[in-house]
Amino acid sequence: MTDRYQQFARSNLGRQVVRRLGLPDPTPLRRYLPGQPTLDGPVLVGGGGRMVDTVRSVLKGISATEVTDVTEGERFGALVFDATGIDEPARLRELYDFFHPVVRNVGTCGRVIVLGAPPAGRGRDGIAQRALEGFVRSLGKELTRGATAQLVYVAPEFEVAAESTLRFLLSAKSAFVDAQVIRIGVHGGEVVEPEDWDRPLAGRVAVVTGASRGIGAAIAEVLARDGAHVVALDIPAQGEELSSVANRVSGAALQLDITSAGAPAALVTYLRERHTKVDIVVHNAGITRDKRLANMKEAAWDAVLAVNLSSQLAINDALLDGDVLRRGGRIVGVSSIAGIAGNNGQTNYATSKAGVIGMVNAYAPVLAERGAAINAVAPGFIETKMTAAVPLLIREVGRRLSSLAQGGQPVDVAETIAWYANPASGAVNGNVVRVCGQSFLGA
Ligand SMILES: NC(=O)c1ccc[n+]([C@@H]2O[C@H](COP(=O)([O-])OP(=O)(O)OC[C@H]3O[C@@H](n4cnc5c(N)ncnc54)[C@H](O)[C@@H]3O)[C@@H](O)[C@H]2O)c1
Repeated sequence: MTDRYQQFARSNLGRQVVRRLGLPDPTPLRRYLPGQPTLDGPVLVGGGGRMVDTVRSVLKGISATEVTDVTEGERFGALVFDATGIDEPARLRELYDFFHPVVRNVGTCGRVIVLGAPPAGRGRDGIAQRALEGFVRSLGKELTRGATAQLVYVAPEFEVAAESTLRFLLSAKSAFVDAQVIRIGVHGGEVVEPEDWDRPLAGRVAVVTGASRGIGAAIAEVLARDGAHVVALDIPAQGEELSSVANRVSGAALQLDITSAGAPAALVTYLRERHTKVDIVVHNAGITRDKRLANMKEAAWDAVLAVNLSSQLAINDALLDGDVLRRGGRIVGVSSIAGIAGNNGQTNYATSKAGVIGMVNAYAPVLAERGAAINAVAPGFIETKMTAAVPLLIREVGRRLSSLAQGGQPVDVAETIAWYANPASGAVNGNVVRVCGQSFLGA
């Protein structure tokens, strides 16, 4: 779906109108293209903690240039600050000292990453570490020209396990992820470095539900690009579109209504017979049946809860009980910012999507015991058929009320899921990352 306002704001006339009226001016986001440099400019690294070596090794791995001196007018591809050593609130001043002189120099679609230690216990170190969230969330709102800021808490001993996350956040793959807090290693985790970072999912089998269109089709494409064999699943009524997605990604189509009584067993049988086990399961299928609660028919409540939550739990249990999820496997839920902020007319939907967050919290320790992990994305306004159906004014507000002042693309959600699925992301477990351009809703 095209964003006409963004096109207008970039035209000659539009530029003048936008400047005069102080309207939002959404920067076209830099998105991943094979072969392009990961970063569009050099990197400045600051702070002093236990992450510095990992940061340098990642920068080397992505062929980024680290600079030590700041030259006048230089535009940075990224600013990375290792705050893991900040053990005392007074030392938060180090953030100011590092960022204040250079924050104006963050380039278009540049990246700011702050690395911290998961705040725990009652010590002053935990207080200082918790404070980092406020810094990053505010900086995300101050950055312009499509630049983003993130906070990554890395548990001790999991420094190297942060590599896949740093690669993702520094790259254009995280274009619409802004002001997020990611936790690494809090549930432990097994990390396997891929032989080829461009095809980290080679040899893996992924199931994507609701894959015939929209975000699900993009997930199928990105996982296949990264090397996975994709089983694209959708309801029989979507059979034709489903086959075309499956063909496009050289995968397989599986027609199945996930809410049907036999669906979990049918999926288990399918996976056992064709692949023995499965590596990645993405619960993307979802529906809306919007009405204010007072006007909502019970069928609308039941259908949304069944597709968006209960069927996913039944499938997870069947996969785990049947030992079909391979060691090192991944389950990914698709929540929504409506599940975090709530939304008028969406009590059923928001209940189900908050339930997906509950699912992540409940299963994370269970999966950790199997060397596996579960996480969720919470998309904000994504340009799909679902959002094209939203009335124009609400749609326009949904797009602009975010730091990046635009809607995201299905590929933005898909790239985030591919990062979770990466074998090197084994210590990323129990996270819910919003893909919302720092939407102001529920932030
Ligand atoms: N588009 C957005 O802005 C947005 C925002 C937040 C969250 N999400 C979530 O992202 C996911 C994908 O959204 P989308 O915009 O691509 O929606 P979509 O309606 O285009 O696609 C959803 C797919 O799920 C399939 N599906 C529905 N019921 C099913 C069932 N019982 N069994 C199997 N498949 C079933 C549909 O046939 C469809 O192909 C959903 O979970 C949605 O709630 C979307």
